Amino acid sequence: MKNSEKPNDILSPKPLRSETIESLIERKRKNLEAIFDAVPVNLLLVDEDLIVVRVNDTTRKLVGKDYTEIINKPLGQALYCKIVTVEKKTCGSGELCKKCPLRQNVQKVLDSSQPVNEFEFQSETHFQNRNVKPWFVLSIEPVTIEGKKYVVVCLNDITERKLAEEKLVETMEMKSQFISTVSHELRTPLAAVKEGLDIVLQGEAGRLNKKQKQFLEISTRNVDRLNSLVNDVLDFQKLESGKMKFNFAPADLGQVVTEAAESMTLVAKKADVNMSVEIKPGIYHAVFDHDKIIQLITNLLSNAIKFTPSGGKISLVLQPQSDEIIITVSDTGLGIPKEDLPKIFQRFYRVKRPGKQIAGTGLGLPIIAQIVLNHGGRILVDSQPDIETTFTICLPKNPPKNTNKTI
Ligand SMILES: Nc1ncnc2c1ncn2[C@@H]1O[C@H](COP(=O)(O)OP(=O)(O)OP(=O)(O)O)[C@@H](O)[C@H]1O
Ligand SMILES: [Mg+2]
Repeated sequence: MKNSEKPNDILSPKPLRSETIESLIERKRKNLEAIFDAVPVNLLLVDEDLIVVRVNDTTRKLVGKDYTEIINKPLGQALYCKIVTVEKKTCGSGELCKKCPLRQNVQKVLDSSQPVNEFEFQSETHFQNRNVKPWFVLSIEPVTIEGKKYVVVCLNDITERKLAEEKLVETMEMKSQFISTVSHELRTPLAAVKEGLDIVLQGEAGRLNKKQKQFLEISTRNVDRLNSLVNDVLDFQKLESGKMKFNFAPADLGQVVTEAAESMTLVAKKADVNMSVEIKPGIYHAVFDHDKIIQLITNLLSNAIKFTPSGGKISLVLQPQSDEIIITVSDTGLGIPKEDLPKIFQRFYRVKRPGKQIAGTGLGLPIIAQIVLNHGGRILVDSQPDIETTFTICLPKNPPKNTNKTI
Protein backbone atom coordinates (compact mmCIF):
# COMPACT_ATOMS: atom_id res chain seq x y z
CA MET A 1 0.00 0.00 0.00
CA LYS A 2 1.35 3.45 -0.92
CA ASN A 3 1.60 6.08 1.83
CA SER A 4 -0.99 8.28 0.13
CA GLU A 5 -3.55 5.46 -0.03
CA LYS A 6 -6.08 5.36 2.78
CA PRO A 7 -6.26 2.05 4.69
CA ASN A 8 -9.48 0.06 4.75
CA ASP A 9 -11.04 1.56 7.89
CA ILE A 10 -14.32 2.58 9.45
CA LEU A 11 -14.64 5.49 7.01
CA SER A 12 -14.18 3.25 3.99
CA PRO A 13 -16.14 0.14 5.04
CA LYS A 14 -16.17 -2.99 2.93
CA PRO A 15 -19.62 -3.99 1.63
CA LEU A 16 -21.35 -6.65 3.69
CA ARG A 17 -22.58 -9.72 1.84
CA SER A 18 -25.40 -8.80 -0.54
CA GLU A 19 -25.27 -5.16 0.71
CA THR A 20 -26.43 -2.60 -1.84
CA ILE A 21 -24.23 0.34 -2.83
CA GLU A 22 -26.81 2.72 -1.37
CA SER A 23 -26.69 1.02 2.02
CA LEU A 24 -22.89 1.00 2.00
CA ILE A 25 -22.81 4.73 1.22
CA GLU A 26 -25.38 5.37 3.94
CA ARG A 27 -23.28 3.44 6.44
CA LYS A 28 -20.20 5.42 5.49
CA ARG A 29 -22.13 8.70 5.80
CA LYS A 30 -23.38 7.79 9.28
CA ASN A 31 -19.90 6.83 10.44
CA LEU A 32 -18.50 10.11 9.19
CA GLU A 33 -21.34 12.05 10.78
CA ALA A 34 -20.85 10.35 14.16
CA ILE A 35 -17.18 11.36 14.16
CA PHE A 36 -17.92 14.91 12.94
CA ASP A 37 -20.52 15.33 15.71
CA ALA A 38 -18.27 14.00 18.45
CA VAL A 39 -15.13 16.04 17.65
CA PRO A 40 -14.54 18.01 20.87
CA VAL A 41 -14.18 21.36 19.05
CA ASN A 42 -16.88 23.52 17.55
CA LEU A 43 -17.01 22.98 13.79
CA LEU A 44 -19.13 24.93 11.30
CA LEU A 45 -19.32 24.69 7.54
CA VAL A 46 -20.03 28.12 6.08
CA ASP A 47 -20.82 28.96 2.46
CA GLU A 48 -19.87 31.94 0.28
CA ASP A 49 -22.82 34.00 1.55
CA LEU A 50 -21.68 33.45 5.14
CA ILE A 51 -24.59 31.08 5.74
CA VAL A 52 -24.02 28.18 8.11
CA VAL A 53 -24.75 24.98 6.20
CA ARG A 54 -23.53 22.41 8.72
CA VAL A 55 -22.47 22.29 12.39
CA ASN A 56 -21.40 19.46 14.63
CA ASP A 57 -23.16 18.47 17.83
CA THR A 58 -20.45 20.13 19.95
CA THR A 59 -21.37 23.49 18.37
CA ARG A 60 -25.08 22.83 18.82
CA LYS A 61 -24.50 22.15 22.53
CA LEU A 62 -22.36 25.29 22.89
CA VAL A 63 -24.96 27.51 21.23
CA GLY A 64 -27.75 25.75 23.14
CA LYS A 65 -30.13 25.78 20.15
CA ASP A 66 -31.76 23.26 17.88
CA TYR A 67 -30.17 22.45 14.50
CA THR A 68 -33.12 24.11 12.76
CA GLU A 69 -32.22 27.43 14.42
CA ILE A 70 -28.61 27.16 13.30
CA ILE A 71 -28.55 25.54 9.84
CA ASN A 72 -29.23 27.79 6.84
CA LYS A 73 -28.95 30.86 9.05
CA PRO A 74 -26.41 33.70 8.67
CA LEU A 75 -23.32 33.25 10.83
CA GLY A 76 -24.29 35.89 13.41
CA GLN A 77 -27.81 34.58 13.81
CA ALA A 78 -26.66 30.98 14.13
CA LEU A 79 -24.17 31.92 16.81
CA TYR A 80 -26.56 34.17 18.77
CA CYS A 81 -24.64 37.35 18.01
CA LYS A 82 -25.88 40.11 20.30
CA ILE A 83 -26.07 42.62 17.45
CA VAL A 84 -28.32 40.30 15.45
CA THR A 85 -30.55 38.96 18.22
CA VAL A 86 -30.78 41.88 20.65
CA GLU A 87 -30.33 44.84 18.31
CA LYS A 88 -32.39 43.00 15.65
CA LYS A 89 -29.95 43.67 12.81
CA THR A 90 -29.26 41.26 9.95
CA CYS A 91 -25.81 39.74 10.26
CA GLY A 92 -23.40 42.08 8.48
CA SER A 93 -25.61 45.19 8.49
CA GLY A 94 -24.71 46.60 11.93
CA GLU A 95 -21.96 49.18 12.40
CA LEU A 96 -20.01 46.74 14.60
CA CYS A 97 -20.35 43.96 11.99
CA LYS A 98 -17.67 45.68 9.89
CA LYS A 99 -15.20 44.95 12.69
CA CYS A 100 -16.53 41.46 13.52
CA PRO A 101 -13.39 39.25 13.64
CA LEU A 102 -15.37 36.15 12.73
CA ARG A 103 -16.98 37.64 9.61
CA GLN A 104 -13.74 39.36 8.59
CA ASN A 105 -11.71 36.16 8.84
CA VAL A 106 -14.29 33.97 7.12
CA GLN A 107 -14.46 36.49 4.26
CA LYS A 108 -10.66 36.65 4.10
CA VAL A 109 -10.37 32.87 3.71
CA LEU A 110 -13.16 32.76 1.11
CA ASP A 111 -11.43 35.51 -0.91
CA SER A 112 -7.86 34.28 -0.58
CA SER A 113 -8.32 30.50 -0.21
CA GLN A 114 -5.61 30.74 2.44
CA PRO A 115 -6.31 29.28 5.90
CA VAL A 116 -6.37 31.29 9.15
CA ASN A 117 -4.74 29.66 12.15
CA GLU A 118 -5.14 30.17 15.89
CA PHE A 119 -6.68 33.66 15.91
CA GLU A 120 -7.85 34.69 19.41
CA PHE A 121 -10.87 36.94 19.75
CA GLN A 122 -13.71 37.85 22.09
CA SER A 123 -17.06 37.36 20.44
CA GLU A 124 -20.33 39.24 20.76
CA THR A 125 -22.29 36.01 21.13
CA HIS A 126 -24.41 35.65 24.24
CA PHE A 127 -25.57 32.07 24.08
CA GLN A 128 -26.42 29.96 27.13
CA ASN A 129 -27.28 33.17 28.95
CA ARG A 130 -23.65 33.63 29.89
CA ASN A 131 -23.01 37.05 31.31
CA VAL A 132 -19.46 37.17 29.95
CA LYS A 133 -18.56 37.52 26.31
CA PRO A 134 -16.91 34.23 25.30
CA TRP A 135 -13.32 34.06 24.05
CA PHE A 136 -12.43 31.77 21.14
CA VAL A 137 -9.42 30.57 19.24
CA LEU A 138 -10.45 30.61 15.62
CA SER A 139 -9.02 28.50 12.78
CA ILE A 140 -10.51 28.48 9.29
CA GLU A 141 -9.77 26.15 6.36
CA PRO A 142 -11.06 26.69 2.81
CA VAL A 143 -12.78 23.70 1.12
CA THR A 144 -14.40 23.14 -2.26
CA ILE A 145 -17.42 20.84 -2.27
CA GLU A 146 -19.08 19.96 -5.59
CA GLY A 147 -17.40 22.96 -7.22
CA LYS A 148 -18.63 25.43 -4.58
CA LYS A 149 -16.43 27.35 -2.13
CA TYR A 150 -16.94 26.79 1.60
CA VAL A 151 -14.92 27.28 4.76
CA VAL A 152 -14.64 25.00 7.76
CA VAL A 153 -14.67 27.18 10.86
CA CYS A 154 -13.17 25.73 14.02
CA LEU A 155 -13.95 27.59 17.25
CA ASN A 156 -12.24 26.57 20.45
CA ASP A 157 -13.81 28.04 23.60
CA ILE A 158 -11.04 29.53 25.79
CA THR A 159 -13.25 31.71 28.01
CA GLU A 160 -12.28 29.87 31.22
CA ARG A 161 -8.58 30.28 30.48
CA LYS A 162 -9.00 33.99 29.68
CA LEU A 163 -10.97 34.59 32.90
CA ALA A 164 -8.25 32.79 34.90
CA GLU A 165 -5.59 34.95 33.21
CA GLU A 166 -7.51 38.13 34.02
CA LYS A 167 -7.82 37.03 37.66
CA LEU A 168 -4.09 36.29 37.77
CA VAL A 169 -3.21 39.75 36.43
CA GLU A 170 -5.55 41.31 39.01
CA THR A 171 -3.94 39.31 41.83
CA MET A 172 -0.44 40.20 40.65
CA GLU A 173 -1.40 43.87 40.57
CA MET A 174 -2.79 43.65 44.10
CA LYS A 175 0.41 41.95 45.25
CA SER A 176 2.56 44.64 43.61
CA GLN A 177 0.44 47.36 45.16
CA PHE A 178 0.80 45.72 48.59
CA ILE A 179 4.60 45.43 48.25
CA SER A 180 4.85 49.06 47.13
CA THR A 181 2.72 50.31 50.03
CA VAL A 182 4.64 48.33 52.66
CA SER A 183 8.01 49.38 51.22
CA HIS A 184 6.90 52.99 51.07
CA GLU A 185 5.67 52.91 54.66
CA LEU A 186 9.04 51.50 55.79
CA ARG A 187 10.92 54.50 54.42
CA THR A 188 9.90 57.08 57.04
CA PRO A 189 10.68 55.03 60.18
CA LEU A 190 13.93 53.88 58.57
CA ALA A 191 14.98 57.47 57.93
CA ALA A 192 14.20 58.30 61.59
CA VAL A 193 16.28 55.32 62.85
CA LYS A 194 19.19 56.39 60.63
CA GLU A 195 18.99 59.97 61.87
CA GLY A 196 18.97 58.83 65.52
CA LEU A 197 21.96 56.55 64.91
CA ASP A 198 23.90 59.37 63.22
CA ILE A 199 23.25 61.75 66.13
CA VAL A 200 24.42 59.21 68.71
CA LEU A 201 27.44 58.19 66.57
CA GLN A 202 28.55 61.82 66.23
CA GLY A 203 28.64 62.01 70.02
CA GLU A 204 25.87 64.59 70.24
CA ALA A 205 24.08 62.51 72.88
CA GLY A 206 27.19 61.92 74.97
CA ARG A 207 30.58 60.28 74.56
CA LEU A 208 30.66 56.70 73.27
CA ASN A 209 33.16 54.05 74.18
CA LYS A 210 34.86 51.95 71.45
CA LYS A 211 32.52 48.97 71.83
CA GLN A 212 29.36 51.12 71.71
CA LYS A 213 30.66 52.88 68.59
CA GLN A 214 31.41 49.54 66.92
CA PHE A 215 27.87 48.22 67.54
CA LEU A 216 26.26 51.43 66.33
CA GLU A 217 28.35 51.33 63.15
CA ILE A 218 27.13 47.79 62.44
CA SER A 219 23.54 49.00 62.98
CA THR A 220 24.10 51.93 60.59
CA ARG A 221 25.42 49.60 57.89
CA ASN A 222 22.35 47.37 58.29
CA VAL A 223 19.98 50.34 58.17
CA ASP A 224 21.74 51.47 54.97
CA ARG A 225 21.29 47.98 53.48
CA LEU A 226 17.63 47.92 54.42
CA ASN A 227 17.19 51.38 52.96
CA SER A 228 18.76 50.38 49.66
CA LEU A 229 16.59 47.22 49.57
CA VAL A 230 13.42 49.28 50.13
CA ASN A 231 14.50 51.71 47.40
CA ASP A 232 15.25 48.83 45.00
CA VAL A 233 11.86 47.22 45.64
CA LEU A 234 10.09 50.54 45.05
CA ASP A 235 12.16 51.27 41.94
CA PHE A 236 11.51 47.85 40.49
CA GLN A 237 7.77 47.98 41.13
CA LYS A 238 7.57 51.40 39.51
CA LEU A 239 9.68 50.36 36.53
CA GLU A 240 7.77 47.13 35.99
CA SER A 241 4.36 48.77 36.17
CA GLY A 242 5.48 51.57 33.84
CA LYS A 243 4.89 54.18 36.57
CA MET A 244 8.53 55.25 36.72
CA LYS A 245 9.06 58.65 35.10
CA PHE A 246 11.98 58.93 32.72
CA ASN A 247 13.50 62.34 32.12
CA PHE A 248 15.08 62.04 28.71
CA ALA A 249 17.42 64.87 27.78
CA PRO A 250 20.32 65.30 25.33
CA ALA A 251 23.76 65.14 26.98
CA ASP A 252 27.21 63.58 26.71
CA LEU A 253 26.89 59.90 27.69
CA GLY A 254 30.70 59.55 27.97
CA GLN A 255 30.80 62.21 30.66
CA VAL A 256 27.93 60.67 32.63
CA VAL A 257 29.43 57.17 32.52
CA THR A 258 32.80 58.56 33.70
CA GLU A 259 31.00 60.35 36.55
CA ALA A 260 29.31 57.07 37.59
CA ALA A 261 32.57 55.11 37.38
CA GLU A 262 34.38 57.72 39.51
CA SER A 263 31.82 57.25 42.27
CA MET A 264 32.78 53.56 42.41
CA THR A 265 36.59 53.93 42.49
CA LEU A 266 36.72 53.92 46.29
CA VAL A 267 34.53 50.81 46.51
CA ALA A 268 36.80 49.04 44.00
CA LYS A 269 39.91 50.11 45.93
CA LYS A 270 38.45 48.83 49.19
CA ALA A 271 37.71 45.46 47.54
CA ASP A 272 41.28 45.40 46.15
CA VAL A 273 40.21 45.10 42.52
CA ASN A 274 41.77 47.04 39.68
CA MET A 275 39.17 49.11 37.84
CA SER A 276 39.92 50.70 34.44
CA VAL A 277 37.73 52.98 32.35
CA GLU A 278 38.23 53.44 28.61
CA ILE A 279 36.20 55.87 26.55
CA LYS A 280 37.01 55.13 22.90
CA PRO A 281 37.18 58.17 20.58
CA GLY A 282 33.89 59.18 19.04
CA ILE A 283 30.69 61.13 19.52
CA TYR A 284 28.74 60.41 22.69
CA HIS A 285 26.00 62.94 22.29
CA ALA A 286 22.77 61.03 23.06
CA VAL A 287 19.30 61.36 24.55
CA PHE A 288 18.96 59.55 27.90
CA ASP A 289 17.87 59.81 31.52
CA HIS A 290 20.96 61.01 33.44
CA ASP A 291 20.05 59.53 36.86
CA LYS A 292 18.93 56.18 35.45
CA ILE A 293 22.17 55.78 33.47
CA ILE A 294 24.18 56.54 36.65
CA GLN A 295 22.06 53.90 38.46
CA LEU A 296 22.67 51.42 35.62
CA ILE A 297 26.46 51.88 35.56
CA THR A 298 26.87 51.83 39.36
CA ASN A 299 24.73 48.68 39.60
CA LEU A 300 26.81 46.91 36.93
CA LEU A 301 30.10 48.00 38.50
CA SER A 302 28.87 47.09 41.98
CA ASN A 303 28.12 43.55 40.74
CA ALA A 304 31.51 43.29 39.05
CA ILE A 305 33.28 44.43 42.24
CA LYS A 306 31.15 42.21 44.48
CA PHE A 307 31.72 39.03 42.51
CA THR A 308 35.44 39.56 41.79
CA PRO A 309 37.88 38.32 44.43
CA SER A 310 40.69 40.65 45.52
CA GLY A 311 43.47 41.06 42.98
CA GLY A 312 41.00 40.78 40.06
CA LYS A 313 40.37 43.22 37.22
CA ILE A 314 37.32 45.15 36.08
CA SER A 315 37.10 47.14 32.89
CA LEU A 316 34.49 49.55 31.66
CA VAL A 317 34.64 50.37 27.94
CA LEU A 318 32.49 52.82 26.03
CA GLN A 319 32.34 52.79 22.25
CA PRO A 320 30.06 54.54 19.76
CA GLN A 321 28.82 52.39 16.87
CA SER A 322 26.75 54.12 14.16
CA ASP A 323 23.54 55.21 15.96
CA GLU A 324 24.24 53.25 19.13
CA ILE A 325 26.59 53.51 22.10
CA ILE A 326 28.03 50.23 23.36
CA ILE A 327 28.87 49.93 27.05
CA THR A 328 30.77 46.86 28.24
CA VAL A 329 31.58 45.96 31.82
CA SER A 330 33.93 42.99 32.17
CA ASP A 331 35.42 41.33 35.21
CA THR A 332 37.74 38.43 35.95
CA GLY A 333 35.60 37.23 38.87
CA LEU A 334 33.51 34.21 39.84
CA GLY A 335 31.30 34.41 36.76
CA ILE A 336 27.84 32.98 36.12
CA PRO A 337 27.31 29.29 35.29
CA LYS A 338 25.69 28.65 31.91
CA GLU A 339 22.46 27.26 33.41
CA ASP A 340 21.97 30.43 35.52
CA LEU A 341 22.48 32.89 32.66
CA PRO A 342 18.83 32.89 31.44
CA LYS A 343 17.55 33.49 34.99
CA ILE A 344 19.71 36.33 36.32
CA PHE A 345 17.33 39.03 35.04
CA GLN A 346 14.43 37.56 37.02
CA ARG A 347 13.58 39.41 40.21
CA PHE A 348 15.25 38.05 43.37
CA TYR A 349 17.24 35.48 41.41
CA ARG A 350 20.73 34.92 42.82
CA VAL A 351 23.27 32.32 41.74
CA LYS A 352 23.77 29.70 44.45
CA ARG A 353 27.45 29.44 45.28
CA PRO A 354 29.21 27.17 47.73
CA GLY A 355 30.51 28.79 50.91
CA LYS A 356 29.61 32.20 52.32
CA GLN A 357 26.83 33.97 50.40
CA ILE A 358 27.66 37.39 48.97
CA ALA A 359 25.15 39.98 50.18
CA GLY A 360 22.44 41.14 47.76
CA THR A 361 18.76 40.93 46.93
CA GLY A 362 18.67 39.99 43.26
CA LEU A 363 16.98 43.20 42.14
CA GLY A 364 19.98 44.98 40.59
CA LEU A 365 19.87 43.25 37.20
CA PRO A 366 16.05 43.36 36.81
CA ILE A 367 16.27 47.12 37.44
CA ILE A 368 19.13 47.46 34.93
CA ALA A 369 17.13 45.49 32.33
CA GLN A 370 14.09 47.75 32.79
CA ILE A 371 16.23 50.89 32.44
CA VAL A 372 17.82 49.53 29.24
CA LEU A 373 14.41 48.57 27.79
CA ASN A 374 13.00 51.99 28.59
CA HIS A 375 15.86 53.46 26.57
CA GLY A 376 15.01 51.13 23.67
CA GLY A 377 18.30 49.27 24.13
CA ARG A 378 19.53 45.69 24.54
CA ILE A 379 21.51 43.91 27.22
CA LEU A 380 23.68 40.84 26.65
CA VAL A 381 25.73 38.75 29.03
CA ASP A 382 28.51 36.31 28.44
CA SER A 383 30.40 34.47 31.14
CA GLN A 384 33.21 32.00 31.55
CA PRO A 385 33.33 31.41 35.32
CA ASP A 386 36.64 32.40 36.93
CA ILE A 387 37.91 33.72 33.59
CA GLU A 388 35.76 36.58 32.30
CA THR A 389 32.21 37.87 32.63
CA THR A 390 31.00 40.61 30.29
CA PHE A 391 27.77 42.58 30.34
CA THR A 392 27.18 44.48 27.08
CA ILE A 393 24.60 47.22 26.79
CA CYS A 394 23.65 48.74 23.44
CA LEU A 395 21.84 52.06 23.82
CA PRO A 396 20.38 53.91 20.83
CA LYS A 397 21.58 57.51 20.69
CA ASN A 398 17.97 58.54 20.09
CA PRO A 399 15.58 56.24 21.96
CA PRO A 400 12.38 55.45 20.04
CA LYS A 401 9.15 56.99 21.40
CA ASN A 402 7.45 53.63 22.09
CA THR A 403 10.10 51.46 23.63
CA ASN A 404 9.69 47.70 24.02
CA LYS A 405 9.21 47.13 27.72
CA THR A 406 9.26 43.36 27.93
CA ILE A 407 12.36 41.41 28.81
N1 LIG B 1 29.52 40.40 37.36
C1 LIG B 1 28.96 39.32 37.89
N2 LIG B 1 29.72 38.23 38.18
C2 LIG B 1 29.18 37.12 38.70
N3 LIG B 1 27.88 36.98 39.00
C3 LIG B 1 27.08 38.01 38.73
C4 LIG B 1 27.57 39.23 38.17
N4 LIG B 1 26.53 40.07 38.02
C5 LIG B 1 25.45 39.41 38.47
N5 LIG B 1 25.77 38.19 38.90
C6 LIG B 1 24.85 37.15 39.42
O1 LIG B 1 23.52 37.52 39.12
C7 LIG B 1 22.75 37.62 40.32
C8 LIG B 1 21.73 38.71 40.18
O2 LIG B 1 22.37 39.97 40.15
P1 LIG B 1 21.65 41.22 40.77
O3 LIG B 1 22.49 42.41 40.57
O4 LIG B 1 20.26 41.24 40.23
O5 LIG B 1 21.50 40.84 42.31
P2 LIG B 1 22.51 41.00 43.50
O6 LIG B 1 23.73 41.75 43.08
O7 LIG B 1 22.71 39.65 44.07
O8 LIG B 1 21.67 41.86 44.52
P3 LIG B 1 21.32 43.43 44.43
O9 LIG B 1 21.88 43.94 43.14
O10 LIG B 1 19.84 43.49 44.48
O11 LIG B 1 21.98 44.02 45.62
C9 LIG B 1 23.76 37.84 41.42
O12 LIG B 1 23.30 37.39 42.66
C10 LIG B 1 24.94 37.03 40.93
O13 LIG B 1 24.77 35.70 41.31
MG1 LIG C 1 23.54 43.58 42.06
